[in-house]
Amino acid sequence: MNVRVIYASLTGNTAKVARAIADVLGVEPEDIRSLKPGDVAGVGLLFVGDGVYGWKPSRRMVRFLKSLPDLRGVVAGVFGTYGARPTQLPLLKRILVEKGAEVVGEFACPGVDWFTFGLLRRGRPNERDLERARAFAAEIARKTGYLPESSS
Ligand SMILES: Cc1cc2nc3c(=O)[nH]c(=O)nc-3n(C[C@H](O)[C@H](O)[C@H](O)COP(=O)(O)O)c2cc1C
Repeated sequence: MNVRVIYASLTGNTAKVARAIADVLGVEPEDIRSLKPGDVAGVGLLFVGDGVYGWKPSRRMVRFLKSLPDLRGVVAGVFGTYGARPTQLPLLKRILVEKGAEVVGEFACPGVDWFTFGLLRRGRPNERDLERARAFAAEIARKTGYLPESSS
């Protein structure tokens, strides 16, 4: 099964989570700035991550997801980082579902918030957050048969 971990990350927090998730799956995380919508064709398991800006996902990610080809048959998980609340995730999920994907899980953790000059959520995501992210990825990967049931 073809698996991809794609993300957008303005200040680098979501990129760290993407790296943790991709490590579990044995792939490289991909910044959508280096991707064309057609690159995602043929994917079986898709992880999509973003920060939240003004309570929404990034415009770049919304535009990218909307431009993707049909995602019927694709299993997806969404993830993200936030300063206050992960309010970007519902829209990410909705777009994926509208494209035909089956969204089977979501993960979010705090990320240091440069909008508040780094005063909020300092040091996040931390190692514990990344461990939870890895567990999230492993669970979905096992459910879909991408990783064997016995893998830790
Ligand atoms: C311009 C800007 C706007 C933000 N708006 C929100 C927001 O509306 N709600 C929230 O919970 N966090 C907000 N944050 C905090 C970020 O979502 C948080 O730091 C996140 O980890 C950023 O992800 P990134 O480093 O991958 O870009 C904002 C941060 C920035 C820089």
